[in-house]
Amino acid sequence: MAERATWTTRIGFLVAAIGSAVGLGNIWQFPFKTGANGGSSFLVFYLIAVVAIGFPALLGEFVLGRRTRLNAIDAFGELGHRQWRIVGALGVATGFWILSYYNVVGGWVMRYIVGSATGAYFDAPAEYFGAVSAGPEAIAAQALFVLVVVGIVALGVEDGIEKATKVMVPSIVLLMLAMAVWAFTLEGGAAGYEYFLSPDLDTLLANAGTAIPFAVSQAFFTLSLGMAIMVTFSSYVGNDDNLAVDGGIIVGTNTLIGVLAGLVVFPVLFANGIDPATSGPSAIFIAMASGFAELPAGRLLGVVFFGVVLIAALSSAISLLEVSVSWATDNYDIGRVPLAAGLGVGLFVLGLPSAWDTAWLTWFDNLAYQLLLPVSVLFAMLFVGWVLGDEALTEIRQGMSGMDWFGPAWLWTVRIVVVAGVAVTLVLGLRTLFVEGAIVPPV
Ligand code: TRP
Repeated sequence: MAERATWTTRIGFLVAAIGSAVGLGNIWQFPFKTGANGGSSFLVFYLIAVVAIGFPALLGEFVLGRRTRLNAIDAFGELGHRQWRIVGALGVATGFWILSYYNVVGGWVMRYIVGSATGAYFDAPAEYFGAVSAGPEAIAAQALFVLVVVGIVALGVEDGIEKATKVMVPSIVLLMLAMAVWAFTLEGGAAGYEYFLSPDLDTLLANAGTAIPFAVSQAFFTLSLGMAIMVTFSSYVGNDDNLAVDGGIIVGTNTLIGVLAGLVVFPVLFANGIDPATSGPSAIFIAMASGFAELPAGRLLGVVFFGVVLIAALSSAISLLEVSVSWATDNYDIGRVPLAAGLGVGLFVLGLPSAWDTAWLTWFDNLAYQLLLPVSVLFAMLFVGWVLGDEALTEIRQGMSGMDWFGPAWLWTVRIVVVAGVAVTLVLGLRTLFVEGAIVPPV
């Protein structure tokens, strides 16, 4: 068997899982999805989705991985009928689909590091975003990002990224906190808090139909669920680890960073007269850029901020490529380098439309949220809850002492709450795609 990354310590596992979870999903995507889906009411749905659906589903993927100690595709085959491997493959495909446009946004981040250093966006942050986010410049930046991801995976130097992740998480929290304090001082920013943090029941109910699928899929996206990643990571975890505690740490850290990003973005948007409902994928870029443009040492701050975001994006992107590479090198006689390079080319090509026009990026993103993520997680959790059942219970109990109630509570949550919640998400998503026509590509 070819060599696979391993960790001997629990911290190694936590760092890798947090590195995968914390990424553009928290910093870039969460604020604009919140803005597009009614602000504070979305936040409520999102938090419920994270706790009631995301957290149990994360533990479900952990159970699959640790039980079999295999990559995600073979894990399904080992525990159930061979046909179930298709669910693992669906996870890998979902991750690929997402990574294709994730790379484009990673390219934007790289571009913003340069833009911060030279002060290129200081005069006109909104126009700058328009100029670099689509077209040939965006394609060049996307290519560079893919190259770095492939290079790291091909050379097998993820260690470096793992070390960087240990610094990344505290840096993101500190930087975001500092930016949030600054955002607090902005004139006109108070409306942002109102928008983000004060839900009212009427808006909540009025938005439920559209907000629920986005909130649930956002929870999956940001926790790297339905992409075969967490299954693979947990295949190296020791039997004396308490999966629920580890899962709680991962979910807690990940959620904190998303909420902090919102505390920066919304006051800044309101202070600058930008409508959060329509700002879309540009929100975090324009908000942060306007901030750095006004702050002393803004160039330095900009480089540091976007540099840290780049590490977060890289560690997420790498986690997916690593899954495919470990599966393929486990099963076939292919070298890491050609494999990673081939996958990189495929990803680059699939991402070209998104780099060319943000309307395509939105289309890819919509399909992932409304269809791929819910289908992938739904089948995986049907498998864990109803096919594995008691075996899953045995596995979750390993390493857990004195929490006897937890296992059954978790299993029934997976069986009923998660399965029903994801099924509703899928139905609502299909409605958006097929009844409201979101499936039609933006050609
Ligand atoms: N969880 C990551 C985030 O929030 C997203 C992510 C993780 C991802 N793994 C991925 C995206 C693989 C694409 C492919 O940003």
